[in-house]
Amino acid sequence: MQKTDFLVIGSGIAGLTYALKMANRFPERKVLVLTKATADETNTKYAQGGIAVVNDLENDSYAKHIEDTLIAGDGICNEKVVEIVVKEGPERVEEIIEWGAQFDKEEDGDYKRGKEGGHSEFRILHHKDVTGKEMERALLDAVARQKNIEFVNHCFVIDIITQHHMGYLITKSTPDIECYGVYVLNLETNRIEKILAKITLLASGGNGQVYRTTTNPSIATGDGVAMVYRAKGRIENMEFIQFHPTALYEPGVRGQAFLITEAVRGDGGILRNKKGEAFMERYDPRKDLAPRDIVARAIDSEMKKSGIEHVWLDCRHFTKEKFTEHFPNIYEKCMSIGIDITKDMIPVAPAAHYSCGGIKTDEWGRSSINNLYAAGECASTGLHGANRLASNSLLEAMVFAHRCFLDATEKIKLIELNEAVPDWNAEGTSEPREMILITQSLKELQQVMSDYVGIVRNDIRLQRAMRRLDLLWVETEDLYQSSSLSPQLLELRNMISVGYLIVKGASFRKESRGLHFNTDYPEKSVLVQNIVL
Ligand code: FAD
Ligand code: SIN
Repeated sequence: MQKTDFLVIGSGIAGLTYALKMANRFPERKVLVLTKATADETNTKYAQGGIAVVNDLENDSYAKHIEDTLIAGDGICNEKVVEIVVKEGPERVEEIIEWGAQFDKEEDGDYKRGKEGGHSEFRILHHKDVTGKEMERALLDAVARQKNIEFVNHCFVIDIITQHHMGYLITKSTPDIECYGVYVLNLETNRIEKILAKITLLASGGNGQVYRTTTNPSIATGDGVAMVYRAKGRIENMEFIQFHPTALYEPGVRGQAFLITEAVRGDGGILRNKKGEAFMERYDPRKDLAPRDIVARAIDSEMKKSGIEHVWLDCRHFTKEKFTEHFPNIYEKCMSIGIDITKDMIPVAPAAHYSCGGIKTDEWGRSSINNLYAAGECASTGLHGANRLASNSLLEAMVFAHRCFLDATEKIKLIELNEAVPDWNAEGTSEPREMILITQSLKELQQVMSDYVGIVRNDIRLQRAMRRLDLLWVETEDLYQSSSLSPQLLELRNMISVGYLIVKGASFRKESRGLHFNTDYPEKSVLVQNIVL
C-alpha cells in the first residue's frame, strides 16, 4: 500500500502541469504520478498542429479567439469557461516556455503562428509538426528536476475508491461521495494494490480507441470516464466525439492512424474528391478551413458518393523546402509509404480524434465526487461545447491543471487520509481460459461504434448499437467477475462503458448540433442543453 497527499493519474500535459506546480508549492509533500504505460506514451506526445493562444494583441484579440471557440462549439459552450481559458491561456503558455518548451520563431524572433479550421487569425504556436512531443519532453525534463515527484509507470488504475468500497450503498443521488484513492493493477508485479490519497487528479486522456480508426495511441481507452461513471460521478456530453477530417488513409491499418495536421490546410493544402474537385467550396464559405465537424461530414458525404474509402489532400503546389520547413515529420512518413507530396496527393479519411465531453467539472476542475479533480481530455469543462476548436485542448489542459492546483492547494489542509479502506478482494477469480475472447469483443465494439455511432447517426443505428453493447457488456462482466484481471480486460470493460455513454448521450440528444448529426433530427433544437449522465 502507498499513501500520498497528491495523486495524479496520467502523465500527459494535464497531469504533468499539475504535478509540477504542486511539487513546487509543497516541497515537503510527495506527488505521486501513475501511468499505465511509459511516461511519455500519451495523446499529448502525438499533438501536431500546436497550441492556440492570443499572444500578439496587435493582430489578434481575446474577443476573436472567444468568438471562434463559441462558433465552433455551436451554442453550448460555457461562455465563462471560454473566457477563462482564452484569457488565462497566455500566462500558462509562458510558463511552459519557461520550463523549456520551444516553439518555432521567425528570423526577427517573433513566434511563427499557424492557422487551423475555425480560427479567424493566425494564432497557433507550434514546434514544426511535432508540438506535442516537444511539450511532453519539456514537461518530463522539468518533472525530472523536481525531487518530490514520484513516478510509477505500468501501473493500471482500476477504480477510484469511494464509500462504496467501505460497504455503503452509493447512488447518483448520494450527496458527498468521496474519493479516498485508487486500486491499481501493478503491471510489473501483477498484483492489485491500494493507494490512499488525500486529493486525486484524473488526467487520463481521451477514448479514441473505442473506434476502429483513430488518431489516438493505444492508451486512449477512456478509463477515467468509465471509473467515474462506475463511482456514480457525473459525466456529460459524451455524444460529441470529434472526428479529425484528415488522418492518413493506409489500406488495412486498424487502430492508430497517422495524422495529417490541419495546419497543412492552414498553409494552403486543398481537399479533393475522386474527380479531382476542390469540393469544400460546395459545403462552406470557409472551404477547407471550416470547423472540423463540417469538414469531416463533407468528406464523409464525398466518400459515400464516390464509394471509395478516402478523399485526397493536395499539397502538390508546395515546394519541398516550404513543406518540410513546417511539416518534416509528415513529409518523412509520406515518403516512407511511397507518397512524394510534391507529386502525389495524400489519401486521407476522417478518424476518431477527440472526446469533447467527459467527467463534468466546475470552473476549478472539481468533479462531482469530493477530493477528485479532472483535467485535460477526460474532463468536460464547458470549453468545447458541441465541437472543439482546433488546438484548444492543450491550452485547456494547462489552464485547468493550474486551476485544479489552486483549488487543491487550499483544500488539502482540510483532508485526512482514510486508513479504513479495505484491500482489494480477488477471491473466486482465476486465469481467463481464452484471452482471444477479449480481443474479439474489442473488435466487435470498435466495429459497432464505427458503423452505427460515427459521423452521421440515426435512431435505428443507435438502437442497434445499444443492443449490441448490452450483450458485450454482459459477456465482459462475466469475465470480469470470474477472471484474474489483465489490462486488456480492464480496458475492454472501460471502453464498453464509454461506448454506452456515447450512445446514451447520442440517443438523448434529439437534434443535430456540432459533432452530433442525426438524420432523423437534422435541425438544431431550440432547447439548448448539456446531456448529463
Ligand atoms: P494524455 O496526454 O492522453 O495522457 C493520458 C495519461 O493517462 C497517460 O499517461 C496514460 O498512461 C494515463 N492513463 C490513462 N488511463 C490510465 C489508467 N487506467 N491507469 C493509469 N494511467 C492511465 N490538441 C491540441 O490542442 N493541439 C494539437 O495540435 C493536437 N493535435 C493532436 C494530434 C493527435 C494525433 C492527437 C491524438 C491529439 C491531438 N490533440 C491536439 C489533442 C491533445 O493532444 C490531447 O487532448 C491532450 O494532449 C490530452 O492530454 P491529457 O493530459 O488530457 O491526456
Ligand atoms: C491537428 O494538428 O490537426 C490537430 C489539432 C487538434 O486536434 O487540436
